[in-house]
Amino acid sequence: MTPIKNCILNRDTSFNPIWLMRQAGRYLPEFREIRKKNTNFIKLCLDSKLSEEITLQPIERFDFDAAIIFSDILMIPYGLGQEVEFKKNFGPNLGNIDLDKFEKLNDEFLTNKLSPIYDLLKNLSKNEKVKNKDLIGFVGAPWTLLVYMINKVSPKNGLSNSFFKNTTLINNLLNILDKFIKLHIKNQIKAGATIIQIFDSWAGLIKTDFDKYLYKPTLSLVDYTKNLGVPVICFPRGIKNYVEFSKIVKPNMINIDYNTDPKKLIDDIDIPIQGGLDPKILLTDRNNLKTQTRKYLEIFNNHPYVFNLGHGILPETKIEMVEELVRVVRDFK
Ligand code: CP3
Repeated sequence: MTPIKNCILNRDTSFNPIWLMRQAGRYLPEFREIRKKNTNFIKLCLDSKLSEEITLQPIERFDFDAAIIFSDILMIPYGLGQEVEFKKNFGPNLGNIDLDKFEKLNDEFLTNKLSPIYDLLKNLSKNEKVKNKDLIGFVGAPWTLLVYMINKVSPKNGLSNSFFKNTTLINNLLNILDKFIKLHIKNQIKAGATIIQIFDSWAGLIKTDFDKYLYKPTLSLVDYTKNLGVPVICFPRGIKNYVEFSKIVKPNMINIDYNTDPKKLIDDIDIPIQGGLDPKILLTDRNNLKTQTRKYLEIFNNHPYVFNLGHGILPETKIEMVEELVRVVRDFK
């Protein structure tokens, strides 16, 4: 069994597997090299040869316990026919929504449009470099995709009240997203994903109606994935109550963010835990990195724990610090 599945399914606490969110990304010079020549980010995600190379870059350097496919949560809006563009030093920028068009779409449309992602997974499953490792496929949670699709840009300053104005639009989109996110999960599993992670990056912006925006839509995806026989990790970033979330949604593993005090939840969460370390710690010095990393490892010494960060690794991160992090995690115990 792979180390992460052994942690999730057998609750093995003798080994802490490690992988990092955004491990295939801009902190790697070899990624920047490819990115320079491929200015269209969506096109790059749909180039299964280059995506495979990028997915494997962090595995070759650090021998992480899992490969996460090089892709993006915004491939779903793109697959539905909404325009998605990534602007340099700005982030994603989405086009207008055509609800009537979305409602008429069938499964084949999205499956065909995203087929290079499934080719990527098929090719990776045959690749010797990821033998005995997990192959993590992923999706954005309905709430976070709703935020991008309606707000059209990252809601860095929060959401305005007008976001919630059109309830028909919101309710219809939530239904459409449930259907097509499930399809994308099923397709990734069929192509070889051994674990699915659900990223709810803007869950912290939900202030009311937690059932409608957080619990119900996530539970629907979690139950669906579990029924396909594949473990599912949830990352509802920024929520106040990881304990309640774990009890209601019951994913196989929960990723915590860096604002959450691990000591406060360890006694009340009975599922395996992943992540937590503030990615900014990797921008400090080796001693601090060692102390902060060991803090998490010690707190979770007797709890099934996969080492990861409390959000994606920052582009400014130095390779040497990632090497040091891996060493500290591997040398623990
Ligand atoms: O983790 C990995 O290594 C796998 C690949 C991955 C990417 N995006 C590649 C990427 C994953 C898992 C994601 C998830 C994702 N995408 C999330 C959820 C996680 C999170 O960060 O909260 C979100 C919100 C997105 C949407 C997105 N994609 C944004 C907001 C941005 C721009 C901001 C930024 O960090 O540049 C992206 C672009 C993106 N996705 C990059 C990468 C490597 C950077 C692209 C570049 O080279 O400019």
